[in-house]
Amino acid sequence: MNLLILAATGNVGGQIITQLQQTGHAVRAVTRDPDRARFPADVEVMRGDLSEPDTIAACLNGIDAVFLLWPLHTGKQLPAVLEVIARQARRVVFLGTGGVPDFSFEEQEWLAHGCGIESTMIRPSTFAVNTLWWADQIRAGDIVEGAYGALPMSLIHEADMAAVAVRALTEPGHDGATYTLTGPEVLTQADQVRVIGEALGRPLRWRELTREEARRRLLADETFPDSFVDVLLDGYAAMLAGPPPTLTTTVQDVTGAPARSLRQWATDHAADFG
Ligand SMILES: NC(=O)c1ccc[n+]([C@@H]2O[C@H](COP(=O)([O-])OP(=O)(O)OC[C@H]3O[C@@H](n4cnc5c(N)ncnc54)[C@H](OP(=O)(O)O)[C@@H]3O)[C@@H](O)[C@H]2O)c1
Repeated sequence: MNLLILAATGNVGGQIITQLQQTGHAVRAVTRDPDRARFPADVEVMRGDLSEPDTIAACLNGIDAVFLLWPLHTGKQLPAVLEVIARQARRVVFLGTGGVPDFSFEEQEWLAHGCGIESTMIRPSTFAVNTLWWADQIRAGDIVEGAYGALPMSLIHEADMAAVAVRALTEPGHDGATYTLTGPEVLTQADQVRVIGEALGRPLRWRELTREEARRRLLADETFPDSFVDVLLDGYAAMLAGPPPTLTTTVQDVTGAPARSLRQWATDHAADFG
C-alpha cells in the first residue's frame, strides 16, 4: 500500500514512520518544511500545510491510506482537508483532538466516519510526552512544582498510538471503529513525577503550587506557549472535578501487546531529561 503520514515530524507521526519501516509499505511523509525535516532514506517527503487544503490535495496522488492528526487551534479547515483526502484515498485514520474549540471530538468523529471512505478514529488519553514540560525542572533538581498534583491521568506512549494507527492503516477490519486508547495505569501528577524519578534513578518529588503560582511559572517558561497556559490549567481543573479516567484494553486488543507503562516511556526518553 501507499501511505501518506501527515504531521510526520511529530511524536506520533515519527513513531508511525519508524514502525512502518519494517512493513514494506511505501511511505510519503508530509511536513511544512521538507528542508529541515529528517526522515529515513526510503521515505518520500512532500510539503503540505493543513491550513491550506490544496497543498494536502497535491500530496495525495497514488495514495491508498492517510494518517491525519490536527495540530491547529481551529478546526475551520478540517472538513475541507477530509474532503480532499476522501476524493483521492480509500482509507483515513484520524487521531482526534480535544484542542479545537470549534469542533468537539464527536463532531470530528462524525466528519471522519461520514467522509465516504474507510475511516478509523483514534481517541487517545493524555500524551505521556506532555511530562517533558517538566524536563527543565528535572534537569535543575529533584523537585517538580505545579498545580493539581492530585489530578489522576492515564498517560499514553506515542509508540502505542502509532502501533494502533499502523494496524488501522495497513489491515482490513478497522473501518468505522473509534478506538479509545489509554495507558495501562492511572497516576496522579505527583505519582507521575515519582515514577519518572524511579526510571531515571532519581528521588524526584512533587511540590504543590497554587493555581496562580503555577500560572506565573508557566508564563515565565519560554518553552511553554503563553496562549496555552490558561487552557491547560482550566482543563486540569475540569478534569479534577470530573470522574477519574477509565482504562481501556484497546491497545492490547488491536495490536496484541499491552499498553506501555509510564516507567517504560520514561526509560525510552531518559536522554530527554538528561
Ligand atoms: N498532548 C495531548 O495530550 C493530546 C491528547 C489528545 C490529542 N492530541 C493531539 O495530538 C496532537 C500532537 O501530536 P504530536 O505530539 O504527534 O505532534 P507534535 O510532536 O506536537 O508535532 C506537531 C506536528 O504537527 C505538524 N504541524 C503543525 N502545524 C501544521 C500545519 N499547519 N500543517 C501541517 N502540519 C502541521 C508538525 O509538522 P511540521 O512542523 O514538520 O510541519 C508536527 O509534525 C495535538 O495537536 C492534538 O491534535 C494531543
